[in-house]
Amino acid sequence: MSGLSSGSAQNLAGDIRAPGDKSISHRALMIGAMAVGETTITGLLEGEDVRRTAAALAAMGVGVNRHDNGDWKVQGVGVGGLAEPANVLDMGNSGTGARLLMGLIATHPFTSHMTGDESLCRRPMGRIAEPIERMGAQVIARDGGRMPLAVLGAADPVPIIYQPPVASAQIKSAVLLAGLNTPGRTTVIEPRPSRDHTELMLRHFGAELEIDEGADGSRGITLTGQPELSARDVNVPGDPSSAAFPGVAALLVPGSGVTIRGVGLNPLRAGLFGTLIAMGADITIASQRNEAGEPVGDVTFRSGKLTGIDVPAERAPSMIDEYPILAVAAAFATGTTRMYGLSELRVKESDRLAAIERGLTSCGVTCAIEGDSLIVQGNGQKPRGGALVSAALDHRIAMSFLVLGLAAERPVQIDDGETIDTSFPGFAALMNGLGGSISEADNYG
Ligand code: S3P
Repeated sequence: MSGLSSGSAQNLAGDIRAPGDKSISHRALMIGAMAVGETTITGLLEGEDVRRTAAALAAMGVGVNRHDNGDWKVQGVGVGGLAEPANVLDMGNSGTGARLLMGLIATHPFTSHMTGDESLCRRPMGRIAEPIERMGAQVIARDGGRMPLAVLGAADPVPIIYQPPVASAQIKSAVLLAGLNTPGRTTVIEPRPSRDHTELMLRHFGAELEIDEGADGSRGITLTGQPELSARDVNVPGDPSSAAFPGVAALLVPGSGVTIRGVGLNPLRAGLFGTLIAMGADITIASQRNEAGEPVGDVTFRSGKLTGIDVPAERAPSMIDEYPILAVAAAFATGTTRMYGLSELRVKESDRLAAIERGLTSCGVTCAIEGDSLIVQGNGQKPRGGALVSAALDHRIAMSFLVLGLAAERPVQIDDGETIDTSFPGFAALMNGLGGSISEADNYG
């Protein structure tokens, strides 16, 4: 593991693009694989997580190739057309890749084995095993439903109506992808709307979906099984979750102004931007447009004062991956920021609630966990920084604390910079191109 260190930056300025959206990239590959014909994907995220999904699909007979111009081509095998993989599918650090793929293979009549890195092997997979077993698959996993595991795909899958206990796009998507090769109608009723990239992408490829908004805030999605999906071109928007790191850095480093072009602004993803604006952030959005069914725009972030606010639990699904960087922003704000309804952060790439509290405390910030809430106390001053923070195999923890170091009094070091490649290859170089100062560091120096 090689570490990285970030030190106080003068000011950040520039005009950049964020890497391709990770969620949409996984889906473009998987749904492209289920189509008939050749799908061209422009702007695919070339991070480690998405590469694992591409490799797993290739191991099941799908042609997945990168062309010299950076486009990716997927030779679809049609719904139900995957072949038994000859070896274990290693999903690395990718919870999304693993969980969505478990759904996809659950209704293919073969057995496959799946594993991942130390972080992924700690994460609960029972939340996917449960619905896909109801559809006729069988999952043999380690204690606690953990990886490595085997999926025995159903030969005669049955459609279900499933109500996940939490608003999770991964659970919803796994069931819908399992529903592709299932006769009849598969329904997921989520307690609150989670990101809808799977629904938008399935429609883009020609699937039939019905959406019902419940009066109680729930959302039902019904897929008609065994559709004929046709290859389509997909233009992947920039990832709002990745844009958040240079964006918040620009808010925090005095004198900064950074524009990020082509950022995905799906309302079920972009909760962070509204939250930061409510804290007083200077964020403007220009040139809003639609790409492959997804809203995108150019977002400009300028430095200024932030004020602590309450972030209600209902907003959590639309910014679930953004709490580490929001907590960093809150550390620079004046007043208290209370973030509610964060129990799902316990089962991300790391226990993010614990990792945020540990990291902020070591950087001199007053914060606390109360139940499933996170409370960060800012005093409008730069936090001290000056700590070595464990990234805990979690890219978003690593990037969040590097951003803190760019604006804190003293440099911040993280023990593992490699984990960033899962979602944001070239992060340090991009930040340095804006005027940041992120450099390699040995972990014990
Ligand atoms: C994702 C869904 C979210 C999110 C993850 C990506 C997806 O997970 O945290 O990074 O692409 O569907 P949950 O479904 O567990 O909320």
